[in-house]
Amino acid sequence: MGDLDLSPVDLDGAMRRALKLVEQRTTDLALTERHEPAAHYVDPERFQAERALLRHCPQLVGYASELPRPGSFVTKEAMGVPLLLTRASDGRLRAFINICRHRQAPVVDGCGVAKRLACPYHAWTYDLEGNLTGVPGEEGFEQTRAASPRLTELPAQEYAGFLWVGLRPGTQLDVESHLGELGPELRAWDIGGWSPVGEKRLDADINWKLALDTFAENYHFATVHRTTFATVALSNCTVFDSYGRHHRLAFPLRAIEEAAGVPETQWRPLDRLVVIYALWPNIVLSVTSGNGEIFRIYPGERPGTSVTFHQNAWRQPLTSDEARAGAEAVFDYAHHTVRDEDYALATKLQRNLETGLSEFLVFGRNEPGVQHRAAVLTEALEESAHRN
Ligand code: FES
Ligand SMILES: [Fe+2]
Repeated sequence: MGDLDLSPVDLDGAMRRALKLVEQRTTDLALTERHEPAAHYVDPERFQAERALLRHCPQLVGYASELPRPGSFVTKEAMGVPLLLTRASDGRLRAFINICRHRQAPVVDGCGVAKRLACPYHAWTYDLEGNLTGVPGEEGFEQTRAASPRLTELPAQEYAGFLWVGLRPGTQLDVESHLGELGPELRAWDIGGWSPVGEKRLDADINWKLALDTFAENYHFATVHRTTFATVALSNCTVFDSYGRHHRLAFPLRAIEEAAGVPETQWRPLDRLVVIYALWPNIVLSVTSGNGEIFRIYPGERPGTSVTFHQNAWRQPLTSDEARAGAEAVFDYAHHTVRDEDYALATKLQRNLETGLSEFLVFGRNEPGVQHRAAVLTEALEESAHRN
């Protein structure tokens, strides 16, 4: 496979900068340190404001390849909202709240291909356009039938190979302007054509921002991931770029050192960098030469809890059991590392934050991703407080 196939996105600029940082034993730096109040991780009022803000943003909920053909459906959860996504015979993506109009059972679980979906409770059936098509014992529901109820539809859009939904019925979704200048770059990856490997759920006793921030710097690699990621990746060395409220990090792998002195055409940037996108406000996308992972991070029921859905898609088609088993092993490894190393440590931070004994956290100049995440969130919260 040639370099062009490996990196449809131009990473030469990032490679050049990474090589320089490695050579000078430094990292991209923010202008100053930032102090972040501990209250931002425990205060119920701020937590509610953050939840409201997330509910108003377009939400990336999966890969377009999870709905491979007309008749496909998949169920999801985002911000506690049960979702049913379908691709009906017209090929269009639709999203619904996965709650039966009868007695509110989930209409369907998991994913598959079907013409009609039958609720597991009393077998009311729906088509993939959300219409109620069958009610056993119809005479019991004359009034309801006359009103032709449908599943509650949510705005949905397929964009840059991902499935996006809006969590408020009747609103418009504009993913293109949400992504801004990052849109074309995400489209270029074509991750929507990669093979989905699975989805894992991680309920954690950490504020959702602590979860996000574990992906926003590699300063912790040498310690937290000493025996895992740090065996292949450098620590405290990051190329940082912001795109409005989104940002991109390039984490150099140890293999970058072999690229010094090699002609640019032979750099193969994806063999030497991991690219991490923080998609405002709560999505992390990690792209390597082999796969593209999504971390969908949502506030839980109180400030000290969050829910992460971790997904992986494999760049090569998974045509054999062996290939699938290999992809699953890579996915398991990454998931366990995040759960047992990052989130396990963050749980202890959350406990300390909740004691109220220490007033603030320090975000270093060498943690520009964390600083950016914190700055744009505070800015957005101020903006929405102003509007209301
Ligand atoms: S709850 Fe769905 S058919 Fe009764
Ligand atoms: Fe980590």
